[in-house]
Amino acid sequence: MNIETLCVHSPKEDKNAHAYGAVSVPIFQTATFSHPGVGDTTGYDYSRQSNPTRTELEDCITALENAYDTVATSTGMAACLLVLELFNPGDHIISQEDIYGGSTRLFSTLGVERGRTFSYVDTTVAKNVINAINENTKAIFIETPSNPTMLVTDIREMSRIAKEHNLLLIVDNTFLSPYFQNPISLGADIVIHSATKYIAGHNDTLAGFICTANEELAEKIRFMYKTVGVSLAPFDSFLTLRGLKTLAIRMDRIQENAIKIANYLKTNKKITNVYYVGLPEHPGYEVNLSQARGFGGMISFTTDTAQTAKEAFEKIKIIKYAESLGGVESLITFPMYQTHADVPVEVRERLGITDKFIRFSVGIENADDLIKDLERALS
Ligand SMILES: Cc1ncc(COP(=O)(O)O)c(C=O)c1O
Repeated sequence: MNIETLCVHSPKEDKNAHAYGAVSVPIFQTATFSHPGVGDTTGYDYSRQSNPTRTELEDCITALENAYDTVATSTGMAACLLVLELFNPGDHIISQEDIYGGSTRLFSTLGVERGRTFSYVDTTVAKNVINAINENTKAIFIETPSNPTMLVTDIREMSRIAKEHNLLLIVDNTFLSPYFQNPISLGADIVIHSATKYIAGHNDTLAGFICTANEELAEKIRFMYKTVGVSLAPFDSFLTLRGLKTLAIRMDRIQENAIKIANYLKTNKKITNVYYVGLPEHPGYEVNLSQARGFGGMISFTTDTAQTAKEAFEKIKIIKYAESLGGVESLITFPMYQTHADVPVEVRERLGITDKFIRFSVGIENADDLIKDLERALS
């Protein structure tokens, strides 16, 4: 099946879960399942471990990400935390320096408190990763494009390095979604999603995924998943599944809008830099083209002064000033004060995440309306 079809139909659709010919999978709002007899099961025992609504969602994502298995978690951060639990005290992880601020916070607090160590490097340069490897290194963690400065890391190259040194390659694929990029097909071992973003797509639910590339990893993750209980609730599974059905058309529209908006921003005299992987002058343009089917809808830009940026947040009308991304509504975020507030100041400054730096998640509205809104807010 092609990707657009996989967004709508689970390849493993369970006819029993679709009783009476229900086209939509019902919300199995139950904590537990009764058994036909001792030692017998319907296939479901307890919803922390598995639930038919969630299974249908997980099967869709497994197919879309070309994974061996997928678990749906309560949030994207729950997915990150569970993956971190694969590592023991003393283990070392090399992470892209520019990643979602919540992931940096997770690594630098809970990660370090449990004895794991981290090196943060610019993974767009393979040599930086190779130089950071030591005898305790167990994994490479990347986002590509990265949040919020849109750095593009070569997934195939990272996979080659990871295999050579017996490391796991973990890719947070939130920004491009499985519609545009499939890291497991490029050699990644684990894919993480904040499904709160493009996959659910409506700014109305929190969700996450861990996709694993092989049975061994899948078993480890499934065991921790049922033990810890970070499972996605049946209703949220339904909402995420409903959002997923329109992923393809939303991503196409969002990208079409993003290209127009990025080109408009380049012409605005108050904008000094535009970070969008769909612009041919973006340093990661070619690498992104070689590994993804699109550029997505995340744009960052810098303004001439901090005052221009502040006023833009106050003047926008259609676009909302809010944390998060990937929904049908366009949102702008001030990473320095919001998503990346916990990133050390020197790192933020090195990456250019300042009081002039704005992140824009392009929605599905009319592009001309969005441009007019920006024009007014930046005037
Ligand atoms: C790239 C990325 N990964 C993970 C997360 C965390 O996801 P959630 O907010 O669903 O916990 C976010 C949230 O903004 C994100 O942008």
